[in-house]
Amino acid sequence: MDKKLIIANWKSYKNISDANDFIVALSGNINKINLENKEIVLAPSFQLLHLCKNLIEKYNLPVQLCAQDVSPFGEGAYTGAVNASQIKEFCDMVIIGHSERREFFNESDEVLNKKVEEAKKNNQRIVYCVQNEIQNIPSGVDVVAFEPPTAIGTGNPDNPEHIEKVFTQLGKRFSGKILYGGSIESDNVRDYIHINLCAGLLIGGASLEAKSFIEILSQW
Ligand code: PGA
Repeated sequence: MDKKLIIANWKSYKNISDANDFIVALSGNINKINLENKEIVLAPSFQLLHLCKNLIEKYNLPVQLCAQDVSPFGEGAYTGAVNASQIKEFCDMVIIGHSERREFFNESDEVLNKKVEEAKKNNQRIVYCVQNEIQNIPSGVDVVAFEPPTAIGTGNPDNPEHIEKVFTQLGKRFSGKILYGGSIESDNVRDYIHINLCAGLLIGGASLEAKSFIEILSQW
């Protein structure tokens, strides 16, 4: 069975104690989740990757880690940047091109292409976010996440019919998994997970509390 990819994007939230509490709660409820049909991924901020890796090993959880971003450069004198080989010590997956990176950090297609190149060199599975059906998708991307900006963090998810149309368009030029992200919650997830071509979900706000994330994961 092709598993749905469910990614918890924690954005710039959570300290050590929050991350610990979340993983302990997930571990205590893992038996409520059907693991045959889904891949569960946590995307914490960089400083929590090490802790999360240790906790996932400690509790023997079937959970993968993902970085929320990656430097467009390799190793070198780039203050503040975290490069793909550094990330590789903790995980094999990285998000590139999230709307918030494009908007608040002015990331252009040129910069995003470099990030993809760096991630690819380090054999990362790349989850590339697009805001519509026409945005560029660099070659080497493994997974595309369609996240309309009007749906991110607003409580107004895009409607399933429109998402299916966008997926169909994206599918004409991209053959990997396509995810949807934007205001997915435990009370609407069923309308989205079964959309034709939907290979999974990128979940922000509703992934911050273990309870709501588990509620989402336990619905199919
Ligand atoms: P949201 O965020 O679920 O809070 O809308 C999704 C995302 O930005 O990945």
